[in-house]
Amino acid sequence: MCGIVGYIGNKNATDIIYDGLKKLEYRGYDSAGIAVIDHNIVKTNRSTGKLVNLKANLEKNPIAGNIGIGHTRWATHGKPSEENAHPHTDCSGKIVVVHNGIIENYISLKKQLVEEGHKFDSETDTEVVAHLIEKNYHGNILEATKKALKQVRGTYALAVICGEEPDKIIVSRNDAPLVIGVGENENFIASDVPALLAYVRDVIFLENGDICEITKNGVKITNQDKLIERKTQKILWNAIQAEKGGYKHFMLKEIYEQPQSIQDTFRGRVFSDQKQILLEIKNITKEVLNKISRIYIIACGTSYHAGLTAKFLLEEFVQIPTEVDIASEFRYRNQVLDKNSLAIFISQSGETADTLVALRLAKQKGAKTLAICNVIGSSISRDADDVVYTHCGPEIGVASTKAFTGQVMALLLLVFDFAVKKGTITEEQLDNYIKQIWNLPSKVSECLKQADKIEKIAKIFSQTKQFIYLARNINYPIALEGALKLKEISYIYAEGYAAGEMKHGPIALIDENMPVMVIATKSRIYEKIISNIQEAKARGANIIAIVNENDTAVTKLSDYQIVVPEVDEIFSPIINVIPLQLFAYYVSTMRGCDVDQPRNLAKSVTVE
Ligand code: M6R
Repeated sequence: MCGIVGYIGNKNATDIIYDGLKKLEYRGYDSAGIAVIDHNIVKTNRSTGKLVNLKANLEKNPIAGNIGIGHTRWATHGKPSEENAHPHTDCSGKIVVVHNGIIENYISLKKQLVEEGHKFDSETDTEVVAHLIEKNYHGNILEATKKALKQVRGTYALAVICGEEPDKIIVSRNDAPLVIGVGENENFIASDVPALLAYVRDVIFLENGDICEITKNGVKITNQDKLIERKTQKILWNAIQAEKGGYKHFMLKEIYEQPQSIQDTFRGRVFSDQKQILLEIKNITKEVLNKISRIYIIACGTSYHAGLTAKFLLEEFVQIPTEVDIASEFRYRNQVLDKNSLAIFISQSGETADTLVALRLAKQKGAKTLAICNVIGSSISRDADDVVYTHCGPEIGVASTKAFTGQVMALLLLVFDFAVKKGTITEEQLDNYIKQIWNLPSKVSECLKQADKIEKIAKIFSQTKQFIYLARNINYPIALEGALKLKEISYIYAEGYAAGEMKHGPIALIDENMPVMVIATKSRIYEKIISNIQEAKARGANIIAIVNENDTAVTKLSDYQIVVPEVDEIFSPIINVIPLQLFAYYVSTMRGCDVDQPRNLAKSVTVE
């Protein structure tokens, strides 16, 4: 995920900013850059790849000044390249911007600015902000930034400097973190605390809508044109705690990031006031889709589980037969794809060897290909004809959490896009679903409030040797995913089953030593799942049930309940997986396992 660092004071800004960016390396990035003001002249240095490349560039072309801003970029709009690396400048080269987040209306803003004569150097959404500020600049960079931001829709943490006003940095935020480090005769800014720890401990966390003018001796914060005060807090975290945002593990941090990462995946693609889905798909047009007779979804591990939810959705909404395959199996079969097949490849890393080979095989057969990836510019995203990114930011914990919910979200958007193209969804239905999508982040936040209760239940079962996870229909993949999470981070043997399949064999395993986790939220098969719970209960199993508020039937039958908010069943996988992630996390920590780097596993499986 992108990182921002800035400095104003009496020292060399370049060194401090470079050092701060180094502290943010753990977040992942693909290019970096720094801009400083030297005697009213803005000097910029950018490079692709890691910070060592920027360092080499800086050694060849040193830049120095007492004020500057820097950035590490995790590409979202436009490939990783020097032109797309931040900072971005206006036409005059005097106004410089670094930005984290997504400017949703950048296409229309860019079109207008180009018509007005502005020259763009990059493919990024960020550059429109530099030109918008230029358009509004009449000698006051704070006022120009305020005016520009009134036209911008999206998420941002933003820092701006201007050659004509070398005594101030302007910063603002909306749904992306930004923190000011308060020093003596110097001030700092950063997207994340670790960048500041070597210099200051007093910080101010900005709130949405804050626009600030930072000089070396002061911080002036306004919100909705009113001057306001934000309290200064003392940071007592050490460097490692700071990287994890105060959480004990990356996995826990990533679980808690989900309200934001889900929103980042749908923002800019669905609008509450428009009945349309805007995905960056070029090749799967209406005409192409009408000729597709079969869809294949191919992936590994957690990404495979996301694919299973999409089978349900595609057959329900787009009415095209869909098969889901494990990449390592698919690659060694006779692939019966042809030009009327669409093959969708799902991969967080975009580098999984089996998935990549499967993609190449599908292409050889003439199938249309589309990737759902989290890492921009990864091999799978480059090789597929089309790619829909999940915009979750880097996932560091080996156990995938936020990437999974991002994948399910991206697949939902894809299904709606296809359904619109196929004419299998009405405007009214789409409008209704879009409204529900906007409510999902707050529903996920509600699930996270169950953490204490889940921790207590985890304590009861932390020493168990085995677990069964049951669900049906669109939540069957969530049973598989819950079991995988428990297996991989706590080393407890866990298996997910389609609840209706129990009586065909697995029920023989059930007794008082086999706890059963069952997803029993409201759905078209709610009654059926009640019967399945009864079967397990009758054989002495301890039942932990995931239920909705106001549930009575399952609550009576089960031993423990985890309550999650009710949503339309097509969105329920996103909600129901959250308690299962938390449950696996707490069991793992109670067993003293290495949560973030479980034994025998790698984050990116680039070998067969
Ligand atoms: O990067 P990918 O999504 O292609 O990775 C696929 C699997 O290796 C991955 O999901 C794995 O199963 C995770 N450890 C699950 O938590």
